[in-house]
Amino acid sequence: MTEPDFEAAHLTVRLDAIAANWRTVRRLCGPAVAAGVVKADAYGLGMARIAPALAAAGCQTFFVARLEEGVALRKLLPGARIFVLDGAPADAVPALLSFSLIPVLNSLADVAVWSAVAAKGTLEAALHVDTGMSRLGLPGEELSVLAGEPQRLNGINLVLVMSHLALSDEPAHAMNRMQLERFRAALAMLPPTPASLAASAGVVLGKEYHFDLVRPGVALYGGSPAIAGENPFRTATVLTAKVLQVRRIDKGECVGYGATFRAGKPTMLATVATGYADGVPRTASGRGAAAFRGARAPFAGRVSMDLVTLDITNLIEQPRVGDPVEILGDTITLRDAAEAAGTNEYEILTRLSRRVPRHYQDEAP
Ligand SMILES: Cc1ncc(COP(=O)(O)O)c(C=O)c1O
Repeated sequence: MTEPDFEAAHLTVRLDAIAANWRTVRRLCGPAVAAGVVKADAYGLGMARIAPALAAAGCQTFFVARLEEGVALRKLLPGARIFVLDGAPADAVPALLSFSLIPVLNSLADVAVWSAVAAKGTLEAALHVDTGMSRLGLPGEELSVLAGEPQRLNGINLVLVMSHLALSDEPAHAMNRMQLERFRAALAMLPPTPASLAASAGVVLGKEYHFDLVRPGVALYGGSPAIAGENPFRTATVLTAKVLQVRRIDKGECVGYGATFRAGKPTMLATVATGYADGVPRTASGRGAAAFRGARAPFAGRVSMDLVTLDITNLIEQPRVGDPVEILGDTITLRDAAEAAGTNEYEILTRLSRRVPRHYQDEAP
C-alpha cells in the first residue's frame, strides 16, 4: 500500500507544471530575466522541492521576503542569486553577509546601513523605489535625496532597481500606467541599473512593463495573472480528499453546524475528509464546490474542521466511499476557490495546512 492510498487528503504539487510555468514567463518576457519568487515556503507548497526544480529549469535568480527564507534557500541553492525583499536592518547584516544574500534596500536607512558595511569593499544590493503602493520602498522624497547625494550609495554595487505594481491584475486600470511613468522617472534619477517592475500580473501587461527582470510568484504555482480572462499557466496544485460517507437525506433535513443547509428535496450527500484545518476556508461554507471526475458538486452547509459535505444529487456519476474528490485542481481552479471564499489565490495557497501531506510530481501525468 502506498502512502496516498491511505491518506484521507493530499496535495499533489506538480513540479513539471511549475517549471513549465516558469518557462512560459521566460517566453512571454524574454529577453528580460525571469526570476522565481519563492517566499512563504514557495507560497506554502514547499520551497525545498520547488526551488531546486526551478533551478533545474534554468532559473538563477530568486526572491524571498524574510531573511530566514534566504538563509534556507542558500543552503538549497549554493550558486543562486538570492534577493531578500525585507531590506537591510542592522541586525540582518551578519546573516546577509555570511549567506551571500542580496538585500532589497527599502529606505535611506537601509542604504546607510548597507553602505557602511560596504565601506571595506563593494556589496551588491537592489533598491526598491515606491511608485504608489506606499508599502515598502523609498518614497519620492527619499529618492530625491538619494539622487542629489549619490555618495550615499558609496560601496554599493546596485544590481537592480525595482518597484511593485498595486493593480496589475486589472490590466485596464490607470494606476498601472501611472506607476510605469513614476518608475521610469525614478530610473532617470539613478545611475543606469537593470530594472524590474513586473510580478506575475505584470508579465501579461505587455513588454513595456518587463524591463530587465520579472518577478513572478503566483503564476509559477498556477495562479491567474489577472482577475478575469484566460489563465495561460498550468495547474500546479491539486488537493484531493476522500469521501468518508455517502447518504440520502429527506426534504427538510439539515446539514452541518448551524444547520445552514436545509434540503428542499430528497438530497444525496457525500461527506469528505477535509476541512478548515487543512486550509479549506470556512468562508467557502455554502459557496464552494468540489469536483468528481470533472463534475462539480456544491458544498452543502458549513465547512468544519475536518469535514466538508457535498450535495452530489445532480452528479450523473456519484462518488462512493473511498473515492477521492478534487478540492483544488484542474476543475476547481485557484480562482474558483478564492472567489468562493471571498479571498485571493495567494491566501488559498499559503493557507494549505501542514496536515495535508504533499506529494511532488516530477513527470507529466
Ligand atoms: C515585491 C514583490 N515582487 C514580486 C512578488 C510576486 O508577486 P506575484 O505572486 O503576484 O507574482 C511579490 C509578491 O507579493 C512581491 O511582494
